[in-house]
Amino acid sequence: MADIFETAERDELLQLRQFLKEQNHKYYVLNAPTISDAEFDEKMHRLQALEAKYPDLMDVNSPTQKVGSDLDDSKFFVQRAHRYPMLSLANTYNEDEVRDWLSKLPQDDLAIVCELKFDGLSISLHYQNGVLQNALTRGDGTIGDDVIANIRTIASIPQTIPFEGDIEVRGEVLLPWENFNRLNVERANNEEPLFANPRNAASGTLKLQDTDEVQKRGLDAYLYYIIGENLPFGTHFERLQWLRDLGFKTGENIRLCHSLQEVMDFIAFWDTERKNLPIATDGIVLKVNNLQLQQQLGFTAKNPRWAIAYKFQAERELTTLKSISYQVGRTGVITPVANLEPVQLSGTMVQRATLHNEDFIRSLCLQVGDKVWVEKGGEIIPKIVAVEKESNAEAVQYAFPERCPECGTPLVRIEGEAAWKCPNSEGCPPQQCGKIIHFVSRKAMNIDGLGEETIQLLFQNNLIKDVADLYDLQHKDLVVLERMGDKSATNLLNGIQKSKTVPWKRVLFALGIPMVGETTAKNIAKVFTSVDTLSHAILEQLTAVNDVGEQVANAIIAFFANERHQQIIERLKKAGLQFASDEQTELLSTKLLGKTIVISGTFAQHSREEYKNMIEANGGKNTSSVSKNTSFLLGGEGIGPDKRAKCGKLQIPIVSEQEFLAMLE
Ligand code: IVH
Repeated sequence: MADIFETAERDELLQLRQFLKEQNHKYYVLNAPTISDAEFDEKMHRLQALEAKYPDLMDVNSPTQKVGSDLDDSKFFVQRAHRYPMLSLANTYNEDEVRDWLSKLPQDDLAIVCELKFDGLSISLHYQNGVLQNALTRGDGTIGDDVIANIRTIASIPQTIPFEGDIEVRGEVLLPWENFNRLNVERANNEEPLFANPRNAASGTLKLQDTDEVQKRGLDAYLYYIIGENLPFGTHFERLQWLRDLGFKTGENIRLCHSLQEVMDFIAFWDTERKNLPIATDGIVLKVNNLQLQQQLGFTAKNPRWAIAYKFQAERELTTLKSISYQVGRTGVITPVANLEPVQLSGTMVQRATLHNEDFIRSLCLQVGDKVWVEKGGEIIPKIVAVEKESNAEAVQYAFPERCPECGTPLVRIEGEAAWKCPNSEGCPPQQCGKIIHFVSRKAMNIDGLGEETIQLLFQNNLIKDVADLYDLQHKDLVVLERMGDKSATNLLNGIQKSKTVPWKRVLFALGIPMVGETTAKNIAKVFTSVDTLSHAILEQLTAVNDVGEQVANAIIAFFANERHQQIIERLKKAGLQFASDEQTELLSTKLLGKTIVISGTFAQHSREEYKNMIEANGGKNTSSVSKNTSFLLGGEGIGPDKRAKCGKLQIPIVSEQEFLAMLE
């Protein structure tokens, strides 16, 4: 009996280890965790307990022994070794665990600094004689990605500080709520996937390869740690003050505590007050104030012993699923939405939650009438995390609708995709309206005076069915409409008139080709300077554009193959819209047009980022991995062995830095 039990536990240990490794990858690299932090920590505790029980199964690579790695697989960023390892914090979830930690510390004159735990990602800034040199993510704790170009977009991080010598300043990069919400609204308008929370958004942003886009998103940073020699402070509290004097943001919500009670009061205060902060926080960090004592306490393999994090519980409530409704997006994707008995959660009334797609509903075995747990774990979008089944509930099989709830057309599900779609793109009202709303939106044609409501009004009055109809609108048709006087009609027509000067790259984005977002449209317009060349492009020409893979290329080809789209474009052309770029091309040359180039290694004359820019400015495409489509590999010092081997196998030339520069001369 004991044997069976032991085998089961040993099995559980190995499975947990694998599971937690996968979750680390989802959290740190993909920025898309599929379980909550609390669930992760619970499983980590269980793994620790099992490893203590079965020491023969111990493994130095276990997630209990290493911090999760955020290293970028694409190797776009230069990877550098941390001069001092970058560790994580042990987490606690209740008062007992805090008491336990405090009681193990020497009690004489014990002072603890309590700070907010910023919900972003850690960064280590290296300053040499006062000048910012590089900025490394935590990576695997030993090596990090140097994201200096993106860090330089953060106005609150000083480029220079009044300090001679070498120091390392550490803290957290985050996306304030306001910027996070704005980003998600834009993404929703473009039908791009939303970021679940500001941490994921900050992490995704810091790893972008486009600094202009990073700049627009508006990251910020709070710093809390400095490592260097002969620094003029003896406590953590003074360290924070010194950081502030050097020009860093440290956050003002800090308290020096001398008892468990004071610590718990601080925690309780911020547990409710946190919703009024401009930034996301997921807990409180407790740190021993005296630096000598910190040094004595030291570190475990993963965490300092002189600090712990108290994590706030995600707020959850039980409510009832009243019904499921189905929303039709502009590209025909059907999104199921849960209509809930209204419930108060994190200060807001929640009555709807996304159910993502059919598979999500099935995975929860969800039925109308079920009691469901809704959670807003530092996340803006409430989600259903669990179902409480009534024991006598009938097990009715859930069925996704077969027809479009708006126009009745039979739905289709493309193999390999999770979403059902309504294929009636021309005759399904929310799709028609959605396309027009997208067309006039700020980043597309930016037509003043034409909001969603007005579009609905024009649509319902049969004045517009597609975007080309906008340019046929006349003053006399408009003034007779409800809530539309002479002045608004004139403003609207002026706005439409003005849109005729919007440049080609934005017209292209406005057309609403599936999967062609703002950046992709910009990249395409750089290479294809008119709609005529684009509409005749073949797959290979399209995939040579930066950011365009086969799926996107096929979507573009399918879009232009549609006769109705051709007719609309013809009418828009006649109306005078810009279907060609008169900036000629923003390219410096077309010397690399059609070339797909992989960069590997380090270089003497330019950084990797500069080489990437050069490739793009000369019409080429930079990709991260070697494939049969690679034209050549631009190789510096220390080419990755896998890449070198693949080049050999596929007979892809390796071009040196000098040879490459000669090509562009
Ligand atoms: S102190 C040796 N203070 O939380 C580690 N960390 O879960 C010292 N974090 O890796 C870290 N706010 O990225 C510290 N006020 C704060 C923090 C903070 C957020 C992050 C940090 C750390 C992670 C651990």
